[in-house]
Amino acid sequence: MLAAYAARVDADDPLSALEVGERPEPTPPDGWVTVTVKAGSLNHHDVWALRGVALTAEQTPMILGGDAAGVDADGNEVVVHSVIGDPDAGGGDETYDPRRSLLSEKYDGTFAERLVVPRRNLLPKPKELSFEEAACLPTAWLTAYKMLFSRSGTRPGDTVLVQGAGGGVATAAIVLARAAGLRVWATSRSEDKRKAALDLGAADVFEAGGRLPGKVDAVIDSVGEATLDHSLRSCRPGGRVVLCGATSGRKASVELARVFFAQVDVLGSTMGNRRELQGLIDFLVTTGARPVIDTVLPLTQAHDGFAKMVEGSLFGKVVLTP
Ligand SMILES: NC(=O)c1ccc[n+]([C@@H]2O[C@H](COP(=O)([O-])OP(=O)(O)OC[C@H]3O[C@@H](n4cnc5c(N)ncnc54)[C@H](OP(=O)(O)O)[C@@H]3O)[C@@H](O)[C@H]2O)c1
Repeated sequence: MLAAYAARVDADDPLSALEVGERPEPTPPDGWVTVTVKAGSLNHHDVWALRGVALTAEQTPMILGGDAAGVDADGNEVVVHSVIGDPDAGGGDETYDPRRSLLSEKYDGTFAERLVVPRRNLLPKPKELSFEEAACLPTAWLTAYKMLFSRSGTRPGDTVLVQGAGGGVATAAIVLARAAGLRVWATSRSEDKRKAALDLGAADVFEAGGRLPGKVDAVIDSVGEATLDHSLRSCRPGGRVVLCGATSGRKASVELARVFFAQVDVLGSTMGNRRELQGLIDFLVTTGARPVIDTVLPLTQAHDGFAKMVEGSLFGKVVLTP
């Protein structure tokens, strides 16, 4: 079957490690099911895999992709939950299972005509969402949902700052926060992306690191090193900075007094559990909010989609269709 996979890893030239070609047909182990993929979406995680951060050379070749929507063997339209883990081992939440993995880390991912996953990782796709929209949910959108609604402690009417407005997680956070009645402020290095963030519903936008008119109740930060100090400076005393990624670098230097003197909580957040993915799907159906899609490409043009992500030139999600 056709698939987009990491043939090797390359820290400096990740695109050179990506190949699109034939991979063996998967066979489901006991308790696993086969899904015919209708759409998958790209996350920065796929670039980290090609760079050798989320994947080792020994694990290649590995089919990339954490996100998919498709059809199961009984003809049901499904959304695939990407976290392969045991809720019992994580105190009731598979994202806390120390042995959890995401699709494309231990098991082949979603950028293929077919994939196999544990049966419990399938959720019904509602008819209100297209396959392309549903394929955006399992990583970036789920991560933003958990950061906002399980971790940030915000309530309708609060103000939230979203760093790096163009990214998959960031655009999701803007749309979800706005739909939940939060006031959204967003930063971006690019003027075009700042304008686009306003169109998505941000109340105000600022240059990266720019001075804000006041403090915010919480910050959604997926950028990491380049923005963490600004995130801490922007937070009100007792507020929360929720971190899920480090696109700009993994070693941030911060003014520690901003943490202890202002009593700001810094929280890490990863993905979301099955219940939270169902909550996200229900939220979209109820509110009418929809994923922001930058581009839909056939799987054969996966290189073009990956290139956009490496350049950082996209606004929203890149969707690949087999
Ligand atoms: N923990 C988890 O479960 C989880 C889940 C999803 C994602 N993540 C992580 O979250 C991060 C974002 O993922 P994504 O898929 O949303 O990636 P993405 O779509 O590639 O987003 C990247 C965004 O980061 C901003 N950015 C990059 N470098 C920057 C810099 N030097 N200074 C300021 N902003 C910079 C850019 O915003 P502007 O161009 O607008 O400034 C860009 O739009 C990744 O590191 C990913 O690994 C983690």
